[in-house]
Amino acid sequence: MGFVQIVAVAMVALVFFILLWSLLSACVLAPIKAHQKLRKSGFSGPKPSFPLGNLGEMKKGREICPSAGCSQVNVSHDIHSSSLPYFANWQKLHGKVFIYWMGTEPFLYVADPEFLKQMSGGVLGKQWGKPAVFKSDRVPMFGRFGLNMIEGNDWTRHRHIITPAFSSSNLRAMTNSIAESTKKKIEQWTAVITANSSGAAELDVEKEITILAGEIIAKTNFGIDNEAGKILLDKLRAMHISLFKHTRYVGVPLGQFLTLNQTLEARRLGREIDGLLLSIIDARKKVVSLEPQHDLLGMLLEAQREDRGLVKGLTTRELVDECKTFFFAGHETVALAIAWTLLLLAMHPMWQEELRREIAEVIGHKLEMDFTMLARLKKMGWVMSEVLRLYPSSPNAQRQARGDIRVGDKVIPNATNIWIDVVAMHHDQALWGANVNEFKPERFSQDLNGNCKHKMGYVPFGFGGRMCIGRNYAIMEYKIVLSLILSKFSFSLSPSYRHSPTYSFSLRPRYGVPLVVKPL
Ligand code: HEM
Repeated sequence: MGFVQIVAVAMVALVFFILLWSLLSACVLAPIKAHQKLRKSGFSGPKPSFPLGNLGEMKKGREICPSAGCSQVNVSHDIHSSSLPYFANWQKLHGKVFIYWMGTEPFLYVADPEFLKQMSGGVLGKQWGKPAVFKSDRVPMFGRFGLNMIEGNDWTRHRHIITPAFSSSNLRAMTNSIAESTKKKIEQWTAVITANSSGAAELDVEKEITILAGEIIAKTNFGIDNEAGKILLDKLRAMHISLFKHTRYVGVPLGQFLTLNQTLEARRLGREIDGLLLSIIDARKKVVSLEPQHDLLGMLLEAQREDRGLVKGLTTRELVDECKTFFFAGHETVALAIAWTLLLLAMHPMWQEELRREIAEVIGHKLEMDFTMLARLKKMGWVMSEVLRLYPSSPNAQRQARGDIRVGDKVIPNATNIWIDVVAMHHDQALWGANVNEFKPERFSQDLNGNCKHKMGYVPFGFGGRMCIGRNYAIMEYKIVLSLILSKFSFSLSPSYRHSPTYSFSLRPRYGVPLVVKPL
């Protein structure tokens, strides 16, 4: 072997060794070090194994559908142990704050509002980012630059640009459009019922309302009222299924190769969605040059065109990622809140009547909506709060430590992920009292926090600076849609309904929400 070949072989061996060392260091040494640090800080938790961490137990828990949770006879709102059985079990053994592992990624589980308060308070709030492991996993869905994924100065800049899109004057301007779309849906339902000799129809209201909420976000925030919006929403739904419906190996080294088909499918859909959004953006750019628009897309485009003082404008990539984020976050959460509400109202006809009376009083029988009326729908507000307590559309929040962070007498090491279990806190008897699992909207009549014993125990829209940017829009849409459909139809539980709230990114009804719908 000549000198050149020896050098070449040595170089290849060196590169191979460096790659092997990096892999070993990232997948084995770093997690061992993190494990030791967390133990030293006093955190306990279920014993992990390599390379799955605790995913095995989580996967088993997800496959089980406890008979009580799935039956219609016993529709129980005590959903924590049925929808997140592994967390419920671990809580019994390790308390409300403990460590578990997704692959080689450590997660600090938090279901203690006092701990949440201490970790998110004041300056500390800025030391938290979003878990890198989810950022890369969810790229096809939210991109790298959507508001819910970015952090630091980029997050401040995007939030500053987007906030005005949800000002009350903008929301007011969307009222008619939301009402129009809802009235069209009402016409469709009426046609289905009329064609049915029984004078009623069984409709899966989750499916129906998700389609409606998709149309609404497309129209009000992006000015799209055509086939392009429908195709985009269908692709987002398909992406949701490929990313979240099946078991995946997030956090496991090279885990994406274990579910290669799903990973490739999600990436393909992600590229197609980007392409569709770019064509929607281009079409809007032509209109904007003639007449500026003040919806979300209008604001984002304006921010792309100009740098405002110290605030840098948005790049095309950032613009596309924000559109993806808002398309998804802006319809799925509200649709679920309305679907769970209709289920609860079907189970509690007295509250259906109560709300109809309020709608008649505030809006009148002609159903001519005005933005200012919505704030006067007080009881509807209590119902929304109670539904989001029992069935929070966003069942958890996640963070990642940027540096070692002291919380009370414990230190959370740099790069530790945090999983805040909202469902657990919203169903904690110690915080809500003996009737914690009962539907009691009146608990919100005197107190915005529903008399929860701790201010941070009720967080349906998140907490701190990262609080949901679309919450006023969500409340507005919820009240308009619900007022219109409750004024036209009554709802009762269908015999085919099976109660199985399931965690799949959001908190969803696994078998939809089939209800019997009758015109009033
Ligand atoms: C009932 C409806 C909704 C619920 C329950 C809800 C819940 C939440 C929660 C809990 C967070 C905080 C997540 C975290 O801390 O990491 C959040 C953030 C967010 N929400 Fe909502 N949301 C709803 C509706 C909406 C709507 C209608 C939009 C858009 C039009 C929207 C857009 C967003 C965005 C972009 C973020 C990220 C904010 C940031 O990180 O600065 N949400 N939402």
